[in-house]
Amino acid sequence: MGSGIAQVVSLSGYRATVVEVDEDVLQKGMKHLDTALQKQVEKEKITSQQKDAALENIIDTIFLSDLSECDLIIEAAVEDIEAKKAIFSELDKLCPEHTIFASNTSSLTIMEMAAATNRPDRFVGLHFFNPVPVMKLVEVVRTIATKDDVFRDAFAFARSLGKEAIACKDNSGFVVNLLLIPFLLDAIRALENGVASADAIDKAMQLGCGHPMGPLSLIDYVGLDTTFYIANIMFEEYKNNKYAPPPLLRKMVLAGYFGKKTGMGFYNYSENPPKINNFNNIRLD
Ligand code: CAA
Repeated sequence: MGSGIAQVVSLSGYRATVVEVDEDVLQKGMKHLDTALQKQVEKEKITSQQKDAALENIIDTIFLSDLSECDLIIEAAVEDIEAKKAIFSELDKLCPEHTIFASNTSSLTIMEMAAATNRPDRFVGLHFFNPVPVMKLVEVVRTIATKDDVFRDAFAFARSLGKEAIACKDNSGFVVNLLLIPFLLDAIRALENGVASADAIDKAMQLGCGHPMGPLSLIDYVGLDTTFYIANIMFEEYKNNKYAPPPLLRKMVLAGYFGKKTGMGFYNYSENPPKINNFNNIRLD
């Protein structure tokens, strides 16, 4: 999601420093961003001058220390609390007092990250949705320690990106994932129970409820690994079975079927259009 956030932020006229874990991932992310901007130019959504200006607004680096002059930092690292705490703890030493820290976490508690710093009052959640340039919503998350002016600034920032912002409390999953994750997991349970085939489940929700994408396609899009992490975190938090990852999801993650990004999930993306992944077949012929 990092490159999508960088795209939206730089197109809105902000100077942005993008940090990735290594050169390889950084170059892939920047290429993705360049391609996404080029598509917008081709569709005449932006001019090539706007594309060039957006790219000029971005500094790409692999060093956290290059963030030391930022007013706002949006973290979009892997959904792992220890990794996020380590990043924020280091940034806390590098950044000036006024810098606001924000996490794009989908399910972790913002307060837990804020507590790893000496600025819990300058900490918020800024939760974007995939694909970031298209989805209109940002959940702006307030912890019990967030100061009024920090929350107001974060809210205004989200709106300045052309997004609709909603305010929400620091509860795991915020609003969207609180409702979306049980629905996605139920779609996997329906498949597990043989209620219908993957494409029939997707078609049912697209045509029956007007969803732009069926739930299994959406899991492939978000990532089965990401969905699995989020479900585990929410189950741990709420101890409610509706967040428990179904065994099929766990097995698919173990098999490396992470969805679109690995070419295989509920669908096989090496085919165009993608075909159902026939992993449930137990026949020999
Ligand atoms: N980046 C930028 N633009 C993109 C894009 C991307 N990755 N993917 C699609 N688009 C743009 C297309 O260029 C197109 O733009 P125009 O209308 O200007 O031509 C528009 O989006 C529609 O795309 P398509 O015509 O190719 O395909 P579509 O109509 O099927 O839309 C979709 C694709 C926007 C992804 C749509 O299927 C959709 O809204 N799906 C649901 C997405 C969703 O639910 N996201 C939330 C996931 S949960 C999450 O992110 C949070 C979390 O914590 C896990």
